[in-house]
Amino acid sequence: MRILLVASAFNSLTQRIHAELRIRGHRIGVELALGDDLLRARVARFEPDLILAPMLTAAIPEDIWSRHTVLIVHPGPKGDRGPSSLDWAISAGAAEWGVTVLQAVAEMDAGPIWASEPFPVTACGKSELYRNEVADAAARAALLAVERFASGEFVPEPLDYSRADVRGQLRPYHAQEFRRIDWAADTTATVLRKLRSGDSQPGVLDELFGREFFLHGGHFEDRLRGNPGAVIATRDGAICRATIDGAVWLPQLRARRTPGGPATFKLPATDVLGPRLLAGIPEVPVGLVEAATRDTWSQLRYREHDEVGYLEFAFPSGAMSTAQCERLLAAYRWVCERPVNVVVLGPVRDFFSNGIHLNVIEAAADPATESWRNINAMDDLVEAILSTTDKLVIAALAGNAAAGGVMLALAADEVWCRESAVLNPHYRLMGLYGSEYWTYTLPRRVGEEQAARLTREALPVGARAAEGLGLVDRVLPGSAAEFWTRVRQEAETFSSAPELEDRLLLKKQRRAADERVKPLAAYREAELIQMYRNFWGADEPYHRLRRNFVHKVCAQATPAHLLA
Ligand code: COA
Repeated sequence: MRILLVASAFNSLTQRIHAELRIRGHRIGVELALGDDLLRARVARFEPDLILAPMLTAAIPEDIWSRHTVLIVHPGPKGDRGPSSLDWAISAGAAEWGVTVLQAVAEMDAGPIWASEPFPVTACGKSELYRNEVADAAARAALLAVERFASGEFVPEPLDYSRADVRGQLRPYHAQEFRRIDWAADTTATVLRKLRSGDSQPGVLDELFGREFFLHGGHFEDRLRGNPGAVIATRDGAICRATIDGAVWLPQLRARRTPGGPATFKLPATDVLGPRLLAGIPEVPVGLVEAATRDTWSQLRYREHDEVGYLEFAFPSGAMSTAQCERLLAAYRWVCERPVNVVVLGPVRDFFSNGIHLNVIEAAADPATESWRNINAMDDLVEAILSTTDKLVIAALAGNAAAGGVMLALAADEVWCRESAVLNPHYRLMGLYGSEYWTYTLPRRVGEEQAARLTREALPVGARAAEGLGLVDRVLPGSAAEFWTRVRQEAETFSSAPELEDRLLLKKQRRAADERVKPLAAYREAELIQMYRNFWGADEPYHRLRRNFVHKVCAQATPAHLLA
């Protein structure tokens, strides 16, 4: 079928559905919802059999939905309506929620129902839930609805609140008044629900040191205690605040924009507050191994089982600043000294990595210099992985990856991907040539021609398609937890297999042979020459594109690469 995806942004869910439908052989167009006339023109040109809206915050005009079937993916169970479904679900502590695909009609979210799928509400931030359980349920529901539409026989179910399975309701926008934390009265559980329902957008508006900030994140702390509301510790850029019965970690803050002042964006909390406000507040580090046994916030954790080492990392938004790259590299070097023969790298859930930290770069006094430091720190990390010859390294992608984050994964010997992951193996949309030794690893995996196509087209690739291209080695189905169960089983099988020794020998020989043909340093140098130009050259688009990305400047038109 010819399916036109209409979305407010080409976001993770839209990309996921794009990838799922493409691999099923449908012809897919994408149009950003940037105005009724633009949409009318695109519909007339594309002549879709079906219009599907995976993430839409605006209404579709009547002349379109009355002539075409338009299906809207709504992140709520049957009968749920309104713009803040997930916020309400998380703040109310719902154990289960749903995604419903309904037909567009005059009244928002009130059309006939084509499919509805439940999902468990894991205790995490809204965006993380959205990219995991919500995306999985949405993909199932959307594919079912498309199938039902294609059959030509399915009669969608009118929204009828008298039915037992229609339990949702119309709810208002989840404004800051519902999010406000009362530090003198709210328990840790309540504080976490409020924080998580607002993460990553819009955050919870609050006061710290007499100034207003949006709080982002929300993680449990098992030991530290203090006066409710007080900042009692820092760790790797995050702050810890006491509650009446415990404490919570806040990795990021966003200053409230002052009238007429510059736009603000999320940054590591300690960068936003600065050393003067944080004077006297102790930095309380946690070791890699200790973090894995405690219920506290840490970006890095290490576990070992038999001869497999698991280095977990989790960076908000998958963005990796210079400091985060350096910390991960130090941890990786430490793991390399452990008596293990297989190392598994990756977060437990959510983004694997999205490359250099564009927000931290944007906030730097000299963004070009910070970009340079950041890409070099990424390169140091990638180089360490590429040069590990006495262990098999597996990159485990429970979630999505983009740009340098994909290339970070490709440095490993094996790339294992959760079936639902979406990869964006390209840099072009940020105006960058890219580094992370991608000119070595990407063609080595997919061939020169595919490498050129992937980086030029700049389209998302679903896990199955990535497997077909050789970009990833294994695709494992299921939830993030099921994915990790399989990863552990298979990594441990690898580790105890008699062939591992031969494989490591082969790896060492291949690395040495590759080094003779072209040293890793030469790949890095050639890539960095291009990146230097991107960072410092006149008329380079990178600084403008980064600024627009960080400040969430809305596109004026559907980007050309999506129109093909
Ligand atoms: N630096 C800083 N923040 C980043 C980031 C990066 N490299 N990549 C993603 N983010 C942030 C986004 O701003 C967004 O923040 P929000 O939650 O406050 O809105 C969040 O991560 C999720 O990203 P979003 O774009 O909403 O998710 P998505 O799944 O729809 O799209 C990407 C994911 C990776 C395709 C998109 O974020 C992207 O293009 N990122 C930039 C990748 C890049 O060019 N990296 C630098 C070159 S190595």
